Amino acid sequence: MQRSEYTAANRAAWNEAAPLHQKQNFEELLAAFRQPGYNRLDRVATEQLKAIGLESKAVVHLCCNNGRELLSVKNLGAGRCVGIDISDGFVEQARTLSKAAGLDCEFHRHDIYDIPATYDGQFDLTMITVGALGWMPRIDDFFGTVVRLLKPGGWLAIYEMHPLLDMFDEDDPMIPPQLKESYFREKPFVDVSGLDYYGHSQYKSAPMYWFHHKLCDIIQGCLDHGLSIKHFREYEHDISAVFANFERQRISLPLSYTLTARRG
Ligand SMILES: C[S@@+](CC[C@H](N)C(=O)[O-])C[C@H]1O[C@@H](n2cnc3c(N)ncnc32)[C@H](O)[C@@H]1O
Repeated sequence: MQRSEYTAANRAAWNEAAPLHQKQNFEELLAAFRQPGYNRLDRVATEQLKAIGLESKAVVHLCCNNGRELLSVKNLGAGRCVGIDISDGFVEQARTLSKAAGLDCEFHRHDIYDIPATYDGQFDLTMITVGALGWMPRIDDFFGTVVRLLKPGGWLAIYEMHPLLDMFDEDDPMIPPQLKESYFREKPFVDVSGLDYYGHSQYKSAPMYWFHHKLCDIIQGCLDHGLSIKHFREYEHDISAVFANFERQRISLPLSYTLTARRG
């Protein structure tokens, strides 16, 4: 399959999930963002971004979903904020949330690989959070996009699920969990069990494609595009919403990581 066929399939799957997530979390999010200064980010993300410095920075959030993280960044003092996501349904939710919060953030529907050149060199910070990189069929091209969006000296902040998690089955109740996949797997995972990780409803979804990117692919992707890595940490806590049981193991696995890099 071509890159655009994978991303079109994933768009359909995320559009199916949008009303299901909305039913579960939207009223609560609307109420939360009506409070001035509301921040939905956890402590690790907040500290990572504050260490870069958000004051008046132009920020683009790739795979922004319903905008709750970018709106939090705006409340932490960022300047121009632009969220980009492939799902029509989630972009619409992000716009509604932004209006309810009274925050001036832009949300646009684009495939990451087709972001128009008008955005090039516009941003001080590109943000990637929780569950975004695995939807990218070509990780190298993805970092190419990150770099073209940044101004010289601009920052990249990633807070992601650890790729080691792709070796396990999220439905495996065993502790310790059983190894299921090679860390060096190259084929995408194909799934039709839907994305309702809030309401847990079962439905046969459009096929969606998840790509395992090893930690070295992420690091090398940054280096190949001239980004200098300034910070890298691994954590024992789960940010995925699906591997929380792994936190209860006696022997800890790395479940998440932060990486901060800078364009020369
Ligand atoms: C799990 S969410 C992660 C975003 C956010 N951190 C969150 O927790 O909601 C993944 C998002 O990536 C978006 N996405 C997937 N493939 C994409 C692509 N090729 N271009 C832009 N957005 C994409 C989906 O629509 C979805 O909103």
